[in-house]
Amino acid sequence: MPSIKVAILGFGTVGEGVYRILQEKREELKKSTGFTVDVVSILVKDKMKKRTSITDVQITDDFRDILNNPTIDIVFEAIVGEEPAYTYLSDAIEKGCHIITANKKMFAKHGPALMKHAEFRNVQVGFEATTAGGVPIIRTVTNLLAGDRVKRIQGILNGTSNFILTKMRNEGSSFKEALLDAQQKGFAEADPSDDVTGMDAFRKLMILSSLAFGQQPDWDEVPVIGIDHLQAPDLIDASKEDYRYRHVADIRLNENGKMQGTVGPALIGVNHPFFNIDGVDNAVIVETEYLGSLTLIGPGAGMYPSGSAMIADLLHIIRQHEAVLIPN
Ligand code: NDP
Ligand code: HSE
Repeated sequence: MPSIKVAILGFGTVGEGVYRILQEKREELKKSTGFTVDVVSILVKDKMKKRTSITDVQITDDFRDILNNPTIDIVFEAIVGEEPAYTYLSDAIEKGCHIITANKKMFAKHGPALMKHAEFRNVQVGFEATTAGGVPIIRTVTNLLAGDRVKRIQGILNGTSNFILTKMRNEGSSFKEALLDAQQKGFAEADPSDDVTGMDAFRKLMILSSLAFGQQPDWDEVPVIGIDHLQAPDLIDASKEDYRYRHVADIRLNENGKMQGTVGPALIGVNHPFFNIDGVDNAVIVETEYLGSLTLIGPGAGMYPSGSAMIADLLHIIRQHEAVLIPN
């Protein structure tokens, strides 16, 4: 049976999720695609760290081991920050590898350049896991764009913020306790201020903006407010009045053809689709010219939801590029 060789950059919450799904679903993947998918190399920062779940795979802290391996077809990327992730993925594309990334900090800024480069090299870029975790918003918007026009996207795009707001309101947890719980569950960013200041949701909004509108607003013109200033009494008072605070990111093209975005806490009424979105869940409302309004809801962070989004990208690439992948 032909084999697809993959490398995984990063073996934290997300990278391990990808690895585990590839192991656990090996037989199903074989049956559904006709390929075995073999992880041949994993890049980490500290290669001395004990990683008991990995067997028979090269663990390296040197990206050249991956770049110089001629058998690798696809590179999954789940490391932290803009660099070296952007350089690694550019190099992988240049070499002719398909790439699949979860790294929104890198992709919000460098996604358009990576996409252009990939088109030139005739390889694919998967980025479903960058936005709204396990919710298939990237594929949905991509499909809608084939025959429709997106007018507006609103989303609860940061699972950690929603988890914290829910715990503070429902369980009376302090902000600090709720954040610690989100970190222990693997939902938060390596630097959790990205979550609670709204920056993570902002970056996801910029990714959606590029995808849906082919452009991003001037970053300085998007007001970004986090949940870090909200207190438990604010949340409880709001819920007494049949309102809930949600952290909402919103992007649209206004009447003058200008991109308009906002990110911040909003009071949501009982009849709004975001009212009942609790815990780590995300929700995204897409408004289009023909479809009207569509809401997607699902887990916004964590090992398996994020891993599953990356595996969905893998399946898409396999289906699109079977001919390119066969040589191994
Ligand atoms: P973790 O902090 O859990 O893991 C990061 C992994 O990347 C670690 O294995 C670390 O190595 C490795 N790493 C970090 N920097 C480097 C580097 N410069 N070179 C090589 N390896 C490096 O992060 P997550 O798994 O939570 O997140 C990974 C990426 O996915 C981030 O970009 C994040 O924004 C994004 N993401 C996270 C989600 C989540 O639910 N957590 C969901 C969707 C996207 P070592 O193990 O040696 O420290
Ligand atoms: N820290 C992010 C969140 C991970 O909580 O939404 C998923 O992108």
